[in-house]
Amino acid sequence: MTHTQLRTARAVRVVAHRGASHEHPEHTLAAYRQAVADGADALECDVRLTADHRLVCVHDRRVERTSDGRGVVSEMTYEELSALDFGGWKGEAHRGAQVLLFEDLLKEALAADRPVGLAVETKHPTRAGGRLEAELVRVLKDHGLADGRAGLVEVMSFSRNALIRLNRLAPGLPAVYLIERRLRPVRPPFAGHAGPGIDLVRKDPGLVGRLKAKGLRVRVWTVDEPEDVELCVRLGVDTLITNRPREVREYLGSL
Ligand code: G3P
Ligand code: CA
Repeated sequence: MTHTQLRTARAVRVVAHRGASHEHPEHTLAAYRQAVADGADALECDVRLTADHRLVCVHDRRVERTSDGRGVVSEMTYEELSALDFGGWKGEAHRGAQVLLFEDLLKEALAADRPVGLAVETKHPTRAGGRLEAELVRVLKDHGLADGRAGLVEVMSFSRNALIRLNRLAPGLPAVYLIERRLRPVRPPFAGHAGPGIDLVRKDPGLVGRLKAKGLRVRVWTVDEPEDVELCVRLGVDTLITNRPREVREYLGSL
């Protein structure tokens, strides 16, 4: 590796995908506490609105994969979700973990003994008709974080419309346009960062340079393997999103 690439490796930000979710059940307080202990720079979380308009950290539309319940998150109340076990699917040791309110995750990050950021991904915003973004910005405003000045919160979405809505509500918030398969036009101010998946980067490594040439910062998800970390460093990726924050941090330090 060149000196420049090594400098990049030291400066790469590590974002814990759904917490330290390789080890702990995703989106649980235990997963996020582990990620903070592991040295993650920021915590990634997916947010959804419950039937009673609370923002919860859940990835899937339905609860079956990550809980002992059945149903669609947006059709369940926060109280109904709170009665479910969101830990047991990952092993007996994790049984009893509860659904996490976004606001509680925010408080947890703010209580850390060093600055820990939040990378918040909005899910299915079109179905929620903009309510999800409005509630997210409301919670952030309550904590003085919606203007982006603290530099702690950034928003991410696969939906360009969601990013435009968020930009209208909170123009100061840094935004990341996530890219799954193909590159669609994206530009500031709706997003200053682009987030391609690692599969896309493996297939088309030149993508990172093309995004950077547009003035975008680049973050790649979900990067768990050493060879992928190394590829991203060589390409000049700014941020890695990973299920294994401790290992990735250690590997970056060893380069
Ligand atoms: O951080 C981006 C990444 O989380 C997007 O994919 O499905 O894990 O939310 P997904
Ligand atoms: Ca996500």
